[in-house]
Amino acid sequence: MTPGTGPADGARTLTVSLPPRLQAVARWVLPGAPVADIGTDHGRLPVYLVQQGQVPRAVASDRLPGPLAAARRTVAAAGVADRVDLRLADGLAALQPGEVATVVVAGMGGLLMLKILAGRPEALRGVRRLVLQPNTDVEEVRRWLHAHGWRLVAEELAEDGGRFYVVLVAEPAGAPGQARPGATGPEASGPEPSDSEASGPGAAGGTAEAFTEADWVLGPCLRRQGGPLFRRYVERERDRVRRALAGVRQARRPDAELEAALARRLQILEAELARLAGEPGPEEGEQEP
Ligand SMILES: C[S@@+](CC[C@H](N)C(=O)[O-])C[C@H]1O[C@@H](n2cnc3c(N)ncnc32)[C@H](O)[C@@H]1O
Repeated sequence: MTPGTGPADGARTLTVSLPPRLQAVARWVLPGAPVADIGTDHGRLPVYLVQQGQVPRAVASDRLPGPLAAARRTVAAAGVADRVDLRLADGLAALQPGEVATVVVAGMGGLLMLKILAGRPEALRGVRRLVLQPNTDVEEVRRWLHAHGWRLVAEELAEDGGRFYVVLVAEPAGAPGQARPGATGPEASGPEPSDSEASGPGAAGGTAEAFTEADWVLGPCLRRQGGPLFRRYVERERDRVRRALAGVRQARRPDAELEAALARRLQILEAELARLAGEPGPEEGEQEP
């Protein structure tokens, strides 16, 4: 430990562990290159990444002094102040162009996340990967990435505390190569793009133009990967949309537009569950307009 950067003499050094949601985020951070965690709050992600040796250094930023103070405590307790740079800043104002390889934005609403990404696009110059974990509006984040020069190269689903979380991994659209989780070893269980289906939905190297409505809503990579966790995620979404639709239909003031949107969403979710039940190939059973 570098003198003066660790916890107080006699105190034990904190080893940070992550909940499943943040483990799924950490897996996709590019190894061996600096990372920025925008909206870090408690600071556990950047501290974990440097403690594990996955990245040499990290920028941990937050807009508010309270959360940044919490991050400072984590950094100090873990003894990694020489490798984690704490910055009080609004969104990407924390970064200089070319400073980091991976930018993480996690644990906030998708629309706030998009405001942060769109707010200072020049700060993303030189960034090789975005790892985003929007709590809401995931479809909007997928669409924004596509419209703003980012290619969705992987997605991962995490279940944490009874909730589902989606992690989106994007790289500059012109960049070559395929996504692999940043971590190595058996825990690196993220979606592995298939070389043989490079043009199919969800494949790294596939084109977003080929995405179906179901791909935008549920995730091209997640759909392609399937599995029991994904099925439970779709079931949960279907139940949520069913309840919302029932609520709209019972409301005293009708909202035909919302009702139609929810009915369409329900149709997509039910078609997806039928597809999963039948175990056909990725494109079979597609219910697209
Ligand atoms: C719910 S916490 C998520 C913390 C952590 N990223 C995680 O996933 O566990 C969201 C944090 O984002 C910060 N935040 C919100 N808007 C921000 C902005 N424009 N720039 C930087 N940080 C922001 C908040 O202050 C808060 O600490």
